[in-house]
Amino acid sequence: MKESQNNQMRNVLVVGGAGYIGSHVSKALALKGLKPIVVDNFYSGHRDFVKWGPLIEVDIKEREKLAAALRGVEFDAVIHLAAHIEVGESVQNPEKYFLNNVGGTENLLSVLEELGRNVPFVFSSTAAVYGQPEVDLISESAPLKPINPYGESKMQAESRIRAWSERVRAPVCLLRYFNVAGADPECEIGEAHDPETHLIPRLLMSLLKPSTDFKVFGEDYPTPDGTCIRDYVHVWDLAQAHLAALHYLKTHPGPHVFNVGYSKGFSVKEIIQAAEKVCGLRVPYTKAERRAGDPAILVADGSRALRELGWHPEFAGRLDQIIAHAWAWHKSN
Ligand SMILES: NC(=O)c1ccc[n+]([C@@H]2O[C@H](COP(=O)([O-])OP(=O)(O)OC[C@H]3O[C@@H](n4cnc5c(N)ncnc54)[C@H](O)[C@@H]3O)[C@@H](O)[C@H]2O)c1
Repeated sequence: MKESQNNQMRNVLVVGGAGYIGSHVSKALALKGLKPIVVDNFYSGHRDFVKWGPLIEVDIKEREKLAAALRGVEFDAVIHLAAHIEVGESVQNPEKYFLNNVGGTENLLSVLEELGRNVPFVFSSTAAVYGQPEVDLISESAPLKPINPYGESKMQAESRIRAWSERVRAPVCLLRYFNVAGADPECEIGEAHDPETHLIPRLLMSLLKPSTDFKVFGEDYPTPDGTCIRDYVHVWDLAQAHLAALHYLKTHPGPHVFNVGYSKGFSVKEIIQAAEKVCGLRVPYTKAERRAGDPAILVADGSRALRELGWHPEFAGRLDQIIAHAWAWHKSN
């Protein structure tokens, strides 16, 4: 997106902007001359990740407080990332996930409608909406069959957003991210979930703190080395996909869906080997049973985003860079 093309879009509400992905999106917006206005309740976000624009501290589950907080705020687009994201917790406590991920989204949409702000809207969805597809590359037209409440809550949120888009005629992009990893190449922000359940940060944390157990769940999958294969997307490339989506929505109204992935998978063992090379350390791990509901292979067909959004990822296939940026961030934090 060129600077001259930003003239009609200045302020972008970044809901969940204090989190891992939202803070990278905020930085990417600011670098393009846009103003990110972060909306967050700090459930899992970080105050020191809000550094590229103003903050509105509010919980999107509280509809009236949200309406009051947004009244009078000038914004031209919304990027909605706020959610609970732990698959395992969603199985233990599905209600919490539906309340926040579906209920919070409904509140946000109804407040936008009440305020007459039917602006371009980009939503953080997930590959978890596909469940366990039996195909090598998952395209956007694959059936939606989530296998856990987290994926189900995201699928329901997508459907609420589509209905809102059609009702109020607001342009919408639903971005289905695959496995997001890495950190800001300038090392200002990075991945800091608590608890951390994602593979690469857990691996790196086990190197920094040898008391942290690093487990490989299942070595008997029908994959070349027996471990699960995933499509790891650099968080900075993902942030750029949001900019591309905002630009696309200026001329392409209507709800659109895009996978955000590199169409290339790496196994857990390949991640371990790459990390050993990047970090110059051996990665000790313990073998564990498969986790329920973990598909053997989840790799995007990411061609639509490349073709239609004009997304130009910088780190596709660069697992070494993804790990190097995450490693730099974890070492300095
Ligand atoms: N991390 C991944 O690999 C991944 C993959 C696919 C999809 N996603 C989606 O991307 C989005 C961001 O994920 P993340 O990894 O940055 O998570 P994160 O937990 O770091 O960020 C989520 C942010 O939303 C905020 N939030 C949550 N509930 C809120 C509420 N009720 N009101 C206001 N703010 C609230 C949190 O405080 C946090 O700042 C999520 O919607 C997630 O489902 C993430």
